[in-house]
Amino acid sequence: MQQAEFDRFADEYRDLHAANIRASGETPEYFAEYKVLDLYRILAARESRPRRILDFGAGVGTSVPYFRRHLPDASVTCLDVSERSLEIGRSRFSGQAAFQAFDGKTLPFEPGSFHVAFCACVFHHIHPGEHAGLLSELRRVLKPEGTLIVFEHNRLNPLTLRAVQTCRFDENAVLVPVLAMARSIRRAGFSRIERRFRIFFPHALRALRPLERLLHWCPLGAQYSVVATK
Ligand SMILES: C[S@@+](CC[C@H](N)C(=O)[O-])C[C@H]1O[C@@H](n2cnc3c(N)ncnc32)[C@H](O)[C@@H]1O
Repeated sequence: MQQAEFDRFADEYRDLHAANIRASGETPEYFAEYKVLDLYRILAARESRPRRILDFGAGVGTSVPYFRRHLPDASVTCLDVSERSLEIGRSRFSGQAAFQAFDGKTLPFEPGSFHVAFCACVFHHIHPGEHAGLLSELRRVLKPEGTLIVFEHNRLNPLTLRAVQTCRFDENAVLVPVLAMARSIRRAGFSRIERRFRIFFPHALRALRPLERLLHWCPLGAQYSVVATK
């Protein structure tokens, strides 16, 4: 397999990420748990108890401890094109998840292998021409009624834009507008597509965070999620 872009950043990924988001007053772990908690709440509202989760583009496995904490009954498979990121993930979270590499195109799983496909800030690192094929692959490996959840940076938020423009591992990033992401997901055959803007308040304004669940329509969140069903 040829060297992946993130092999270059894997060893310093956490530190680069932490430095890049310092203005928020939060850590990479805070944002990882935020996303897993979002997934947990969506699944709880659907009375769905997933047993197999695919963390697509899992990198160094930042989300793994939060899957273990909030969805302890599910097994987690971390998939990525970056062998070095997976190696680091495997050494940090040995026994807590499976770590698997692939060629960036065809997911190495049987149809219907997973209840959930979780993608945290991955698609802006993939050429837009490859989104359709990968979303179809994600749909293929989900079980019927399986859940796809995609988190991406919101390019309408000036602080997000600045963070991306100044981040070394985002030098080739192409931010995906929420409507384009939702359209690609629909075209891949998913249904029940829900869009939400997420992450509005920095640590200094954390007292306001209970309001976030009322603000999902407001296009100023730092990120967005698109949730869809197979
Ligand atoms: C910004 S990192 C996000 C890592 C992790 N999801 C997180 O939240 O910390 C983007 C990840 O996408 C991975 N990636 C890039 N192209 C990919 C592809 N075609 N398929 C799967 N993962 C890919 C990179 O190797 C990298 O680990």
